[in-house]
Amino acid sequence: MELQRVMRMNSGAGESSYANNSKIQGVIISRTKDIRREAVVEAYLCAAASSGTMSIADLGCSSGPNALLVVADIMEAIERSCLQLQSPPPDFHVLLNDLYWNDFNTVFRSLPEFYRARERLPDCGRCFFSAVPGSFYGRLFPGKSLQFVHSSSSLHWLSQVPEELQNGSPVSCLNKGKVYISKTSPWAVLNAYLKQFRRDLRLFLRCRSEEIVGGGRMVLALMDRRSPDLGMPEDCHLWELLAEALNDMASEGLVATEKIDTFNAPFYAPSLEELKQVVEEEGSFSITTIEHFEAGWDAVADHHSGGEDQHDTIDRENGAVHERRKSYARRMAMGVRAVLESMLKGHFGEGILDELFFRYGKLLESYYSANKPEVGNVVVAMVRN
Ligand SMILES: C[S@@+](CC[C@H](N)C(=O)[O-])C[C@H]1O[C@@H](n2cnc3c(N)ncnc32)[C@H](O)[C@@H]1O
Repeated sequence: MELQRVMRMNSGAGESSYANNSKIQGVIISRTKDIRREAVVEAYLCAAASSGTMSIADLGCSSGPNALLVVADIMEAIERSCLQLQSPPPDFHVLLNDLYWNDFNTVFRSLPEFYRARERLPDCGRCFFSAVPGSFYGRLFPGKSLQFVHSSSSLHWLSQVPEELQNGSPVSCLNKGKVYISKTSPWAVLNAYLKQFRRDLRLFLRCRSEEIVGGGRMVLALMDRRSPDLGMPEDCHLWELLAEALNDMASEGLVATEKIDTFNAPFYAPSLEELKQVVEEEGSFSITTIEHFEAGWDAVADHHSGGEDQHDTIDRENGAVHERRKSYARRMAMGVRAVLESMLKGHFGEGILDELFFRYGKLLESYYSANKPEVGNVVVAMVRN
C-alpha cells in the first residue's frame, strides 16, 4: 500500500471526521503551550525581529480546529512580546504542511472566521497562509527560510512500515497476530521499528536543518513510551487492543487471519532517551527542553465541565465514574478511527470497520476500568545551531 495515500485523517467536519474527533490532540497542544511560547519568542528575538517577517511552519497540521489553534497561539505569544518591547508585530507567513491527500480545504474554509477574530484584536500582525503538501521526511521549504517549526501528534508516524516487517519477510512472520510492537514481540521486531524511527528522524532533522535559519527553533510533540522497555501495556494498549479486536473477529471468521498477519502499523513511539540520542547524534540542533507528559481524557472532561471532576467522590457513589470511563472509551475509539480509518480500509476493506470499532470501544472500556485513560507524550524544544 502506498502509505502517503492511505495515511489520511478522516476529512470534513462530520461526526466521524478528524476535526470532530481530535480533542485528545487538542489537550496535547494545550499541555505544550508554555514550551512552545517560550521557544517561538526566542526564535522571533534571535532570528526574525530585525527583518519584520516571521515564517512559521506547522508540520502534519491535518484538518481540524487544532491547526489554527496552534497558529493563533504562536502569533499571540509573539505579539505579546512585541507589546512589551514596544515594537510593531511582524508580518507572519504561516506554512501549513501535511501529506498530499490531507483535507486542506477544511482548514482554508475556516480562515475567514480566523481573520475576523484577529481583526478584533489590538496590535496584531498581518498573516499570510500557504499550504505545503508533501512528506516532512523530505525537503519542503527553501533553504534558510523558516524561523520556527512546530509539529504535534505527527512525528510518531514513520515514513514506511519497516522493511523487515513488510509482507512475507521472515521477521514479519514473527509478529503474526499483532499490528505493532507488543509485549510478546521478539527482539527482531523491536529492532526493525527502532531502526526505522532513527533513520526517519535523522532525515527529518537534516531536512529541517537546511530550512531553518541559525537561531531558529523547533518544537515537536509526539507520542512516547514511558518505559525504556518495549511493549509495556500502558505504552501500547491502543495497538494491543486493536489487534485483540481484529483477532476476535478472525476467530469468528469475520476477518482473514492472513490479513492481520500482514498488517503492521507505520508508527513508533520512542522513549525520551531514544529521541534525545538521535537529536544529539544528528547534531544540527541543541535541545533546550525535553519533557514527558501524559495526555488524558480527564483533561478534556475538565475543560468541558468547568471543574466537574472535583466531584469524583460523589460521582463514584452513583456510578458516574463508570459512565465517564465508558464515554472516554467511546471517544477514544472514535478518535483512533478518525486517524486510522483510511489505512485500515485500504488493508482490511471497509466492511469490517463498524464492527471492529464497536469491539475496540468495548475493550477500551474494560481497559479504562483498571487503568488511567491516558497516552504518553514527549515534547522537545530545540534551537538550530
Ligand atoms: C493525528 S494528526 C495531527 C494533526 C494536528 N497536528 C493535531 O495536533 O491535531 C497527524 C497528521 O500527521 C500527518 N502526517 C503523517 N506523516 C506525515 C508526513 N510524513 N509528512 C507530513 N504529514 C504527515 C498526517 O497526515 C496527519 O494529518
